Amino acid sequence: MTSGSELPSPVLLGSWPTPLERMPRLARALGLGADDLWIKRDDLTGMGGGGNKTRKLEWLCGAALADGATHLVTTGGPQSNHARLTAAAGARLGLKTVLVLAGPPGLPEQGNLVLDALFGATVVWAGAVDGPGLAAAADDVVARLQDKGLRPALLPFGGSNAVGACGYDVCGQELLNQAPGLDTVVVALGSGGTMAGLVHSLGAERVLGVHCGAVEDPVATVSGLVSAMDRTSLEPGSLRIRTDQVGAGYSALTEQVTAAMERVARLEGVVLDPVYTGRAMAGLIAAVEDGDIVPGRRTVFLHTGGLPGLFGHPAALSALGSRRESGKGAEHSNDTKRADGHR
Ligand SMILES: Cc1ncc(COP(=O)(O)O)c(C=O)c1O
Repeated sequence: MTSGSELPSPVLLGSWPTPLERMPRLARALGLGADDLWIKRDDLTGMGGGGNKTRKLEWLCGAALADGATHLVTTGGPQSNHARLTAAAGARLGLKTVLVLAGPPGLPEQGNLVLDALFGATVVWAGAVDGPGLAAAADDVVARLQDKGLRPALLPFGGSNAVGACGYDVCGQELLNQAPGLDTVVVALGSGGTMAGLVHSLGAERVLGVHCGAVEDPVATVSGLVSAMDRTSLEPGSLRIRTDQVGAGYSALTEQVTAAMERVARLEGVVLDPVYTGRAMAGLIAAVEDGDIVPGRRTVFLHTGGLPGLFGHPAALSALGSRRESGKGAEHSNDTKRADGHR
């Protein structure tokens, strides 16, 4: 990791440690032992509806406060969970938040956008821009605030840089305390900081990232972040990354994701989101099917949150609702009934 003296002190925003729970009915349904599959509940981090960004924001906001920031500025898509939690962190810390979001003004107030407003964030719509265009729009916002004598802190896309990723280095250590014998942690890979932090504390061989289509080159993104934390280079080939769950792209729903969301909901009462955790679970199921995850080893699924995004994803809402109407998938609610003694 970057040497201790250069790291800011994190500020407390979440509730730690998050629970680690068994998923026995899902485990049995996948052909694993009832004790083989666990879920780390980073959807239950507390502040602002919860999710993985809280751990990163503790470090990023620690640095912003140390720098005397008056504003938090960050970027994302319209349904960015990172933007929503940045807005919540700003509210908690008494800082104003400006969210620079890709897209046209006037999008329906749904999901995360409603919570952004509730937390009092200002949204600046950057239009139909690519990554560099969005970054340029954020730079403009920062410059305008500075011109007014204010002190904005620009937080990276997805909260992912070497400082933000420290939050998941800490999560990896927390997991080692809770589950010393863990074999594999399965995690959604978006902007990469979550996987990078876990790789930093657990080692590349114990982390399986499922690419969600948010970055062009997930291997380069994660290896670059780990190297930035470490100041030594990581062999990119050592990373375990699945790229088979992207489908038609980041915000497009796939049948595998819908099926995974339904399965986990009906077997474990856990809600996943259609963009990140649904993809990560679809990747976990595929990894069991192709033998990358095997019975007798302890696998942990990292639930990284994202529930508000479900309510900003009309295609997912109608796909999941129509499955109820047709009764499709009802077999999942029974396929491990009482297999482990639970009713
Ligand atoms: C709910 C959720 N899970 C996972 C991720 C991926 O985390 P990272 O961007 O650190 O790769 C994100 C990123 O936005 C997210 O919102």
